[in-house]
Amino acid sequence: MRWEAVPAPGPVVPVTGQAALARLIEDGVTWGDSSVWLPRLPSGSVSLFFTSPPYADARAYSRIHPDRYVEWFLPFARAMYAATCESGSLVLNIKNRVAKSGSLKGQRHPYVYQLVIALQNMGWWWLETYIWAKPNAVPGRFGPRTKDAYEYVYHFARGPKPYFDLDAVRVPYKTSTTEIDRRRLDANGRRNTAAGFGRDRTTTYCHGGADPGNVVSVPQTYNQHYGVAHTAAMPEGLAAFFISATCPPGGIVIDPFAGSGTTVVVARRSGRRAGGLELHRSFAAEAQRRLATDQADDIPGSLVNAS
Ligand SMILES: C[S@@+](CC[C@H](N)C(=O)[O-])C[C@H]1O[C@@H](n2cnc3c(N)ncnc32)[C@H](O)[C@@H]1O
Repeated sequence: MRWEAVPAPGPVVPVTGQAALARLIEDGVTWGDSSVWLPRLPSGSVSLFFTSPPYADARAYSRIHPDRYVEWFLPFARAMYAATCESGSLVLNIKNRVAKSGSLKGQRHPYVYQLVIALQNMGWWWLETYIWAKPNAVPGRFGPRTKDAYEYVYHFARGPKPYFDLDAVRVPYKTSTTEIDRRRLDANGRRNTAAGFGRDRTTTYCHGGADPGNVVSVPQTYNQHYGVAHTAAMPEGLAAFFISATCPPGGIVIDPFAGSGTTVVVARRSGRRAGGLELHRSFAAEAQRRLATDQADDIPGSLVNAS
């Protein structure tokens, strides 16, 4: 196959400290195991870990039983915590699943919530839970429930003063330009409600766009354009939203579960330094090829205010 011709650095003897970080950023997506590489990163060096790890029990490439998911994930989380700078973040895309066996068979398994609590106990600041709404979720038969049309994106911060740029993710105001102008000039802008609260309505439309809210609607990508198609690639629009909001321009983004390289492609395109790790050689090689061409072959997610 074509990708086998692409040289991929082996995961066996990684470098350490600044050299390890520099290597990841230079490679783009390094063929390697995050459990080996993450503890070797310099402490406080990364602005953002943005990642979508293998979900429990989901894919042939990494089967992790939901009962053991937290135990599996915590060493990665510990290493990321040590490597994240004071204003840095871990942004984690993950999804619930239905238990296939055991006493919870047929019910939603609580592994996502168990993980969130474990991360909070580790010291990560649980800042927000975002819903990634998928307007084009695949239809199917899912038992006594509707189709899965959303996933979670959890924003954890390293400490109490995280970088967060709301202005970078604002969406167009829904109202007309006439109404925006009218509001701006409204001499009686502050109105009190019966409950006694006042809000200065003259400033509502002075922010260059609306706050998008924590329901982020981005069409899923069903991208099959690479030589070895990754079955779980995320849409570039989702990565763009969270990278813009949680990593300063010029900051360092690392994706420890890089897959087809979406995080790195988007982060580099938006002026961040970025690298990732991918355990499977074929995926890593494809991601490197994608980076080399900066292939943007999904339709960029259009961010709409879902509220
Ligand atoms: C959900 S996919 C990521 C998809 C990615 N966000 C994209 O847009 O293509 C998770 C990836 O993590 C990789 N992975 C699993 N365990 C890993 C490890 N220990 N180190 C590095 N990569 C790993 C899997 O091979 C898989 O490609």
